[in-house]
Amino acid sequence: MTTRARAFRATHAPGAEFNPVLPEFHRHAESAGSTGADAAALARTVHLPVASVRAALSSFTEARHDAAAVRVCAGTSCVLAGGPAIAGELRKQHHCEMVYCLGYCDRSPAAMTPSGRVVTGLTPSRFAELRGDPAHPAPPSIRCEARHAVVTRRLGAGEAGDPLAYRGLHRALSMRPDAVTDMVMAAGVRGRGGAAFHAARKWQLAARAPGYPKFVVTNGDEGDPGSFIDRELMERDPHGVLEGMAICAHAIGATRGIVFIRSEYPVSVQVMERAIIEAKSAGRLGRDALGPGRAFDVEVVRGMGSYVCGEETALLAAIEGQRGEVWPRPPYPVDSGVFGRPTVVNNVETIVNVPWILEHGAEAYAEMGTPDSRGTKAVCFNHGFARPGIAEVEFGLPLREVIERHGGGGAGGEPLEAVMVGGPMGSIVLPQDWDAPLCFTAMGRRGINLGHAGLVAIPRGTDWKAFLYHLLVFMKNESCGKCVPCRLGTARCHELATGGLMPESVEEVERILDVMREASLCAFGRETPGPVFTVLQRFRDKAIGRVS
Ligand SMILES: Cc1cc2nc3c(=O)[nH]c(=O)nc-3n(C[C@H](O)[C@H](O)[C@H](O)COP(=O)(O)O)c2cc1C
Ligand code: SF4
Ligand code: FES
Repeated sequence: MTTRARAFRATHAPGAEFNPVLPEFHRHAESAGSTGADAAALARTVHLPVASVRAALSSFTEARHDAAAVRVCAGTSCVLAGGPAIAGELRKQHHCEMVYCLGYCDRSPAAMTPSGRVVTGLTPSRFAELRGDPAHPAPPSIRCEARHAVVTRRLGAGEAGDPLAYRGLHRALSMRPDAVTDMVMAAGVRGRGGAAFHAARKWQLAARAPGYPKFVVTNGDEGDPGSFIDRELMERDPHGVLEGMAICAHAIGATRGIVFIRSEYPVSVQVMERAIIEAKSAGRLGRDALGPGRAFDVEVVRGMGSYVCGEETALLAAIEGQRGEVWPRPPYPVDSGVFGRPTVVNNVETIVNVPWILEHGAEAYAEMGTPDSRGTKAVCFNHGFARPGIAEVEFGLPLREVIERHGGGGAGGEPLEAVMVGGPMGSIVLPQDWDAPLCFTAMGRRGINLGHAGLVAIPRGTDWKAFLYHLLVFMKNESCGKCVPCRLGTARCHELATGGLMPESVEEVERILDVMREASLCAFGRETPGPVFTVLQRFRDKAIGRVS
């Protein structure tokens, strides 16, 4: 949809001007007692044609979701932990639906009760818990040297401080907006959501763009199986997220903030909503949050189950109540984002870096890491490592040190065949490449996508046929369908691989993946073929043939 059309739609929704539409979808679904929303009633509420509402709803898995079902994780980490066999047993007792990653990959396999509680380390002996209201799982292990505790400082590493003090914001408000952006630029913080774009560059562009109101959107969609740092930050440092957003709002002149959180993270939604109320009563958000008469308000928008809604344009479209599909850029969100208004979209971890920079200075931040990847990265380790959990490390460490020292190597001392870095759009990295430094550019030169730096251990003896099929099923299920190469390509590859990829189909799959890499509209279609190619190139003999 063009900028003009989106702005037109926003201004023709009486009483709902620039207000997110997606929450209405949830409200209707909830009042209907399930997520099967009544499109006609919803269309009347949101002042959209019923056809657009139907079209939007059909793009979200949750619109078809049975609210009474147990949601069993079919993400990569849970698959490697024997999830499919356990899910098979569970189906005999519970009505189940599949979901990609619940954010507890350090304790795979995982499943979620209809009330939103997660049971980790799932075995048949724990099935009964899924009928009740189990306790929220304990936090993961967090490891960090105190001097590198930037984003994990309030997760138990380093000095926490009073989360409601908002010292970074206080400092920012004593500075001119452009000086704040200059400071973030000098720190050199790059986006942690996958694209590694300089945060301050985005802020500069949004500050200069004409249009009112301006929005700060925090991306809490964290769909990569293997990553759970954003969930931890939203649940245990929600004020760090809000403070970072308020600093960004001051820098770009925004008055509105949205935290977009995937529906698979219901606790994050609750905690962030509670923190917004706390911040408002403490005067950190609200009418005079950024100084007399300078308002900044934040609200939470919950997703509806779609990996591609983590992509910034699909995310903004979902907020507007449109199909969760990617739109071509330009225009970029900084010029024409949510409702056609200038919008900065930053990842949760990116935004949590910001208060630390304001408090400790750009120099202290830039001293950590490498010249092109400054600061630290919270690396997540799944259950397949000897030390599952999160380690915040300086950029620049060799991947081997990250894997072996911080992750402890394979669980039970077993050697690893490879690690998957950065989820399905990331890379499968074999031990011969573990000397690569944890660094956006150096890794990029070797064809490794760091992504969000979730690491999934791939142990010796992995069933590569099943693994390959898992990757192709994920691609087919999660393609948003907006562009032809990815929509048809993922469907055809899945068709060819059903039951196992046979030798006579390999060449066709490779040809399709090549086209997807070249011609897809977004990074989903361009990057998800990467791990499939690695499996086909490095483990060809083990990956081709009938899945047992
Ligand atoms: C298919 C797809 C899924 C994505 N999922 C996420 C996500 O879950 N979280 C995230 O922050 N960024 C995700 N991104 C990247 C966003 O489009 C965007 O670059 C990012 O949120 C910007 O924030 P940053 O600059 O702070 O990294 C995804 C991109 C694509 C193509
Ligand atoms: S590449 Fe796939 S996910 Fe991206 S726009 Fe095209 S169909 Fe959608
Ligand atoms: S919890 Fe299953 S892959 Fe993350």
